[in-house]
Amino acid sequence: MMKIAVLVSGGGTNLQAIIDAVREGKITDTEICLVLSNNKNAYALERAEKAGIPALSISPKEYDSRDKFNDAMLEAVRSSEAELVVLAGFLCVIPPKMVEAYPNRIINIHPSLIPSFCGTGYYGLKVHEAALERGVRVSGATVHFVDAGTDTGPIILQKAVEVLDGDTPKDLQLRIMEQAEWKILPEAIQLIVHGRVKTEGRRVIIAED
Ligand code: GRF
Repeated sequence: MMKIAVLVSGGGTNLQAIIDAVREGKITDTEICLVLSNNKNAYALERAEKAGIPALSISPKEYDSRDKFNDAMLEAVRSSEAELVVLAGFLCVIPPKMVEAYPNRIINIHPSLIPSFCGTGYYGLKVHEAALERGVRVSGATVHFVDAGTDTGPIILQKAVEVLDGDTPKDLQLRIMEQAEWKILPEAIQLIVHGRVKTEGRRVIIAED
């Protein structure tokens, strides 16, 4: 049984996709041992509570420094005994000490086909605004390991989604969530839990089942 901690900041639809996948048996041998948010008002926390999952919110505002907040976040994850940390719409920067504590054991879902429209400043609707402004015909989502950079870690899974004429950023965001994010994040967790994801430098190798 692998314990996973899910870090959230907002609505929690990706968290819900993970909860549902565990319930439906699409993710096996896995327990969500903690949902942690930096935003006490995140609806994701309500989703966790409804699912009977331990939920915790800690805000940077409650700490004298970002470093102390980072220490509290790392301690909360350590105490949960999580072996995999999933960033599901988590908007805080993961500090180097946490990346070092969980080498290739922190994954993130990003709402574009990395390396497009990613890195500092590309989050939430901004990603889709940039994709529409560039006029791409295809966008999508990426699950990647978290390293010391922003959206720069080894790519685990990606899924392309068509951009339609007349799309608003919200239209594209929802389509990418429905058709890509909510599918590849649970799929990536299942692959990792069952030891099928290896890295060779920047590349990820997914072993046959
Ligand atoms: C999603 O679009 C995700 O790709 C991005 O933030 C959004 C969070 O959505 N990282 P939710 O909180 O999972 O609903």
